[in-house]
Amino acid sequence: MAQQTKAAYYTEFGGIDKLQVGSLDLPNLSAGDVQLLVKAAGVNPVDAVVRAGHFAQVVPSVFPTVPGWDVCGIVEKCGPGVTRLAVGDEVYGYVRQPVAQHGTFAERIVVPENLLAKSPAKLSWVEAGGLPLAGLTAYQSVIKAGQLKAGETILILGASGGVGGSAIQLAKDAGATVIAVASADSAGHMKKLGADYTIDYKAGPVAETVKKMAPDGVDLLFDAISGDTLTQSLATLKPTGRLISVLNDGKALQLPAGVHFQHVMAQPSVPDLDHLRELADAGKLTVPIAATFSLDDVKKAFEQIESHHTTGKVVIVP
Ligand SMILES: NC(=O)c1ccc[n+]([C@@H]2O[C@H](COP(=O)([O-])OP(=O)(O)OC[C@H]3O[C@@H](n4cnc5c(N)ncnc54)[C@H](OP(=O)(O)O)[C@@H]3O)[C@@H](O)[C@H]2O)c1
Repeated sequence: MAQQTKAAYYTEFGGIDKLQVGSLDLPNLSAGDVQLLVKAAGVNPVDAVVRAGHFAQVVPSVFPTVPGWDVCGIVEKCGPGVTRLAVGDEVYGYVRQPVAQHGTFAERIVVPENLLAKSPAKLSWVEAGGLPLAGLTAYQSVIKAGQLKAGETILILGASGGVGGSAIQLAKDAGATVIAVASADSAGHMKKLGADYTIDYKAGPVAETVKKMAPDGVDLLFDAISGDTLTQSLATLKPTGRLISVLNDGKALQLPAGVHFQHVMAQPSVPDLDHLRELADAGKLTVPIAATFSLDDVKKAFEQIESHHTTGKVVIVP
C-alpha cells in the first residue's frame, strides 16, 4: 500500500473554498526522486493563479492537485539513481514541474533531486522555505536579465513583497542606489532591507518623486506590480535604460526606442539557488516573514497572499 501524507489539495479549479486538507497517497519514488519531510513551504501569488485555473495554458493541472512550488525540508528517502543528495540532507527548492499535481503544501512530498539545493545554514526553516521562488525571480530579473551594476540606480515597483524584498537586497549587494515603491506602511520595512529611498504609490505620480531622487533617470526599472504604477513610472527611465517585468509582456507599453525590455518568468535553477544560499550565509540576503500558517489554516494563507498587500513572505509550516 502506498504511503500517505497529510496535504492541502483541490479537486477542481476555483476559489479559496475549493481547498481541502486530508490524506493523499505519496507517489512512488521514480529514478532521480527523493522523498522530503517538509519543514516549510512558501506561498506565492501564482499558487492562487494556478488554483483558479488561470495558469493552465502554461502549467496544466492534474486533480487532486496539491498546491505549492516552494519548499524547504529534509531528505527521508532516495529513489534509484539519486547521486547528489543523501538521507538527512537539508534542502530547499522551487519545485515547479511540467504538471501541477504534487505540490509542496503537504507533510511529505516526492520531488526530483535535480530541483533541490542544500538549504542556507544561516536561515531558519521558515525563512528558507520562503526564499526559492521570490529569491530566484529577483535574482534572475535584477542581476541576470537586468545586469544591474555598481553605481547604477534601480527603481523597484512592488518592493515590499516577497520578490521586491529580495530585489532590494540583491540590488544593494550589487552596489546600486535603490528607490523602492510600495505603500507608506511598508516604508520602514523597505528601508530595513536597504532601500535608499522609498515612495508611496498612493501619494501621487511616482515619476515626479523619482525625478527629485534621480534627476538623470534610472538605469533599471524592475516591475513586480504592473498596472498604473508601471505606466506612470516609464518616464523615469534613462533613454537607454532597461525595463524588466515579471508581469507585463510589454506589448501595450509605449517604450522609447532605446529602452531594452524583457519579461522574465522565473526558472527552477540549482546553480541560482546555490548562489542565493551563499548570499544568505554571508548575511547579505534575509527573508522577512509576514506570517506562518499550519496546513489546517491553508485557506488563511491563501487569503493573505491574495490580498496582494503582503509585507514579506507567507509560509506554511505543515
Ligand atoms: N514572472 C514570474 O516568474 C513571477 C515570479 C514571482 C512573482 N511574480 C508576480 O510578481 C508579483 C509580485 O510577487 P510577490 O510574491 O512579491 O507578491 P507579494 O508578496 O504579494 O507582494 C506584492 C507587493 O506589492 C505591493 N503593491 C501593491 N500594489 C502596489 C502598487 N500599485 N505599486 C507598488 N507596490 C504595490 C504590496 O505592498 P503594499 O502592501 O505596501 O501595498 C505588496 O507588498 C505577483 O503579481 C506575482 O504573481 C511573477
